[in-house]
Amino acid sequence: MTNPSLLILPGDGIGPEVMAEVRKVIDWFGAKRGIAFDVEEDLVGGSAYDEHGVPLTDETMARAQAVDAVLLGAVGGPKYDDLDFSVKPERGLLRLRKEMDLFANLRPAQCFDALADFSSLKKDVVAGLDLMIVRELTSGIYFGEPRGIFEEGNERVGINTQRYTESEIERAVRAAFELAMRRGRRVCSMEKANVMESGILWREVANRVAQDYPEVELTHMYADNGAMQLVRAPKQFDVIVTDNLFGDILSDCAAMLTGSLGMLPSASLGAPMENGRPKALYEPVHGSAPDIAGQGKANPIACILSFAMALRYSFDKGDEAARLEAAVETVLAEGKRTADLLGPEGGTPISTSEMGDAIIGALDASL
Ligand code: IPM
Ligand code: MG
Repeated sequence: MTNPSLLILPGDGIGPEVMAEVRKVIDWFGAKRGIAFDVEEDLVGGSAYDEHGVPLTDETMARAQAVDAVLLGAVGGPKYDDLDFSVKPERGLLRLRKEMDLFANLRPAQCFDALADFSSLKKDVVAGLDLMIVRELTSGIYFGEPRGIFEEGNERVGINTQRYTESEIERAVRAAFELAMRRGRRVCSMEKANVMESGILWREVANRVAQDYPEVELTHMYADNGAMQLVRAPKQFDVIVTDNLFGDILSDCAAMLTGSLGMLPSASLGAPMENGRPKALYEPVHGSAPDIAGQGKANPIACILSFAMALRYSFDKGDEAARLEAAVETVLAEGKRTADLLGPEGGTPISTSEMGDAIIGALDASL
């Protein structure tokens, strides 16, 4: 039997250094758990632009389509701010999402006990938090036509279009219900049905899908109220499902509840491939953090936990994913902190690679 294949796209900024720690973890699972992967590496974002003049080459796109899962670090940086829109680093990521048709973006927000003090919210509001945002990722205002900057009379007009078909809504909502069945059996759907027709349709489709899941409770919230509820009482939520743009914003908001953006993984899933695995890309929610790149300060946990999501959602290794997540918890409980995880009391941070090594140590201890 051939090994499952992974394409690693470290990207820009802190991407390469956090991905180096993920490679240690991948190697550990190969050596100690007999879960070996065929790993290839390629360029995306600014690093691809520097080499090839585009943020994602057709060859890399084809490799991403061919592998069992893609792991991505981060893209972007100030160096690329003035580039034409069509070749900006972010376009590479958006092309991957669109062409792989990764319609369900899973963004868990979990508050680790060891970090409950860290949130900008009071500890009892966030301690034990465990929610999942399912963000539609391939449609909506990110991709709708018409779009552009046009001349209109004696001035210009900037246009983007929110557009959702019923089937696009349905598959994202269905993904949320499937997840809810394995969690707390509650789905909250967020849109702006009070002002947007696409929101009215979203709500209708959500209600229709809900009929197939009688065990799951469906509620609806306007997205602005949802943002407010997320910071008021986030533990009321189990699974939140929402569109591309609201999901982008609400997931950053949810991320901060957990204390640090450096902790949060994500999975972007599409339809099943021939081998039954979903098309999949895993990436940390944080960005490329150019201000700290190359200094060994970055927190590799979000990227490592993204690999845990790959084990769970692409490779059906939920037990091994849980082992890796427990190793991260152990290390945090021992007080090991990268710079982003130092509270007001301060302390001495460990480096990116020391954090990776500590997690490997905890994995060894788990055997
Ligand atoms: C995200 C990011 C991206 C998005 C950017 C980098 C294009 O903010 O994944 O949340 O807006 O989707
Ligand atoms: Mg975002």
